[in-house]
Amino acid sequence: MDLINKIYKDKEFMSNAQPILSHKEFIKTKSIVHHGGTRFNHSVKVAYLSYRISKLLGCDTKAAIRGGTLHDFFLIRDDKNLVSETKMFVKHPTLAKENAINYFGVTEKEQNIIESHMFPVSSVVPKSKEAWIVTICDKIIAMSEGVSKAKAQLSVWILFLINFIK
Ligand SMILES: [Fe+2]
Ligand SMILES: [Fe+2]
Repeated sequence: MDLINKIYKDKEFMSNAQPILSHKEFIKTKSIVHHGGTRFNHSVKVAYLSYRISKLLGCDTKAAIRGGTLHDFFLIRDDKNLVSETKMFVKHPTLAKENAINYFGVTEKEQNIIESHMFPVSSVVPKSKEAWIVTICDKIIAMSEGVSKAKAQLSVWILFLINFIK
């Protein structure tokens, strides 16, 4: 059984994720390529790994699931142009947060999870344990999804570090 099918069978996870996954606006992420797969599946995997770790550590699993599911909820497609793609690396958490507020009325904690998931590339700092969990899980899942994309992400991190150091 593949990972996505296994995730769909987890009742506790799905009770929080399903209202988002079945929403007509969120379903649009199924047709957007993201790290070589779909943005929809990427979001499901990040949310699920975040949920399992949150559960293990006794954290707020609902916030981890909702924040994780919505962390990349923006509908702009991947761009082949490296400059605009790099800009999108920094900008997309804000777009995702705005969409999450508009369509799902997310809490302040969930908003921070979404907005800080690209830390330290973006300047919004994770304020909760769940936000730290989601930002780490996003990087783990992204690296598992595509070597070339991971390389691109790594190069942005290196750029950030170089700017940070000087
Ligand atoms: Fe993202
Ligand atoms: Fe992501």
